[in-house]
Amino acid sequence: MCGIVGYVGGQPALDVVIAGLKRLEYRGYDSAGVAVQTESDGSLAVDKRAGKLANLEKSLADSPLPGGATGIGHTRWATHGGPTDANAHPHLDDAGRVAVVHNGIIENFAALRAEIAERGHQLRSETDTEVVAHLLAEEYEGDLAEAMRRVCRRLDGAFTLVAVHADAPGVVVGARRNSPLVVGRGEGENFLASDVAAFIAHTREAVELGQDQVVELRADSVTVTDFDGAPAEIREYHVDWDASAAEKGGYDYFMLKEIAEQPKAVADTLLGRIGTDGRLTLDEVRIEDRVLRAVDKVVIVACGTAFHAGMIAKYAIEHWTRVPCEVELASEFRYRDPILDQQTLVIAISQSGETMDTLMALRHAREQGAKVLAICNTNGSTIPRESDAVLYTHAGPEVAVASTKAFLTQLVACYLVALYLGQVRGTKWGDEINEVIRQLADAPRQVQQVLGTMEPVRELARSLAGASSVLFLGRHVGYPVALEGALKLKELAYMHAEGFAAGELKHGPIALIEPGLPVVVVVPSPRGRSVLHDKIVSNIQEIRARGARTIVIAEEGDEAVAPYADHLIRIPVAPTLLQPLVSTVPLQVFACELATAKGHEVDQPRNLAKSVTVE
Ligand code: F6R
Repeated sequence: MCGIVGYVGGQPALDVVIAGLKRLEYRGYDSAGVAVQTESDGSLAVDKRAGKLANLEKSLADSPLPGGATGIGHTRWATHGGPTDANAHPHLDDAGRVAVVHNGIIENFAALRAEIAERGHQLRSETDTEVVAHLLAEEYEGDLAEAMRRVCRRLDGAFTLVAVHADAPGVVVGARRNSPLVVGRGEGENFLASDVAAFIAHTREAVELGQDQVVELRADSVTVTDFDGAPAEIREYHVDWDASAAEKGGYDYFMLKEIAEQPKAVADTLLGRIGTDGRLTLDEVRIEDRVLRAVDKVVIVACGTAFHAGMIAKYAIEHWTRVPCEVELASEFRYRDPILDQQTLVIAISQSGETMDTLMALRHAREQGAKVLAICNTNGSTIPRESDAVLYTHAGPEVAVASTKAFLTQLVACYLVALYLGQVRGTKWGDEINEVIRQLADAPRQVQQVLGTMEPVRELARSLAGASSVLFLGRHVGYPVALEGALKLKELAYMHAEGFAAGELKHGPIALIEPGLPVVVVVPSPRGRSVLHDKIVSNIQEIRARGARTIVIAEEGDEAVAPYADHLIRIPVAPTLLQPLVSTVPLQVFACELATAKGHEVDQPRNLAKSVTVE
């Protein structure tokens, strides 16, 4: 949440910062602002506007700022104070000599505000951030990094801060606790950003900042210390995707591009993990097989879409390993005093690797002695850094706020973990596991096949733009898929949408069914667990008898459902546990098209941000 960019080098800072903010707008779009050290006298030129980055760009076009080669910028997801010009970042001290941008929440800001006001400073915004500008001005004695260290020692909460001072030309200082901040190293120029996407057009050499570290950036140096000033160890890495990965590449929206990229994302996530002998090799997961054999409980923590991947993983893990598995919303986890010990394997699933609820859940798990395995899409982010092991998904950068390709790759990673646990522990499902591994390898082709048949789904979605509510039903792994379909529709189309376990319908939700209500039903394969299939066919009949307009997602060749489907969406034949890899895709396309038909901003739905770094 909130995107931050800092630049020092030889280019016009404003251009670099604005281009970086464009790449980070997915992190929040309530307001945007910039501060640049002017070339003439080093004073700070600032502009900031409520609303999307376009408003700031328009303002800058109307009244250009003087140029300079050092600058910072911010795109905001509002926490303290509404989305107004005054609350937009950067925030300044009384004299306008210090400018600061912030991501996170400073928990003791009320006490600090009172203290600052008492010392005669004038507070101009309702934000928690502004206190930092005043404190930095007070602490500055010629060394901005030292002033930042002193201020950070007084702050509680989660924060990334980036600041410039008019008296420190060519210096940008950043600080990090919990919220993300990455350095980009260039030739005679350096960058700071919440995400490498902001500087990938300039450099792919990145430096990961750790917890409680302060970085001083000059055009030719990067100096990192802890909050006490001791030199800190840094980890440098090379970003292995290029700038075009974070471009729309001819699509109208990032979401459309990311949906289309799913076959490749799934293939990349499988790459190198299935051996030529058909066995899984997950050597990168540095948890010894001995430890995995001793695991007596798996607990999955995640939020939103990642939580739905976790729900599906529970079915897979319990079936293939016979180890009990719980899945819990990360935001609830640590508050209920969960029972964990050294034999518990906690799996934290997160695309961004920065979700604060998930981070806090994994910290709690580690405090109780559990081993934590992260499933994550973002190299070097906090969640994998703080876990015992990590299995990276290789979806590439996901820019649209609504998760699509990251979800499919999270599923793949969950299956790999479940199958690997089964392989290591040698359960009675050995033959089935071997067969499923073979079928998993075919998933990219199947996802591609589904993508090729989506025109009727798009047409259907457009025809439903006037609907006020859509229900989603599923059984077994189709239930989390139904929840995911409903979540996508809520966040993109701003419609009432709910997912239910189809068997629960008769316990209440069936009262919602009225003539014409669209109900999407995810039908399990008729093969294998046919009881499940028969039951859902009955559920479809029950809702249809009450007038629902049935939209049925069913396997090719499943003729039993055809008579009861007002709209039939076909998916390829897949083993039941793997079916979500194909059944989710039409729901993503459906939500995206319906939102587009309603004229919504598909990539940046209202009130949301991609990386949720507050609890
Ligand atoms: C919905 C969506 C969110 C995220 C959730 C967790 O489309 O994207 O529900 O899945 O905020 O985010 P990560 O995976 O980054 O922890």
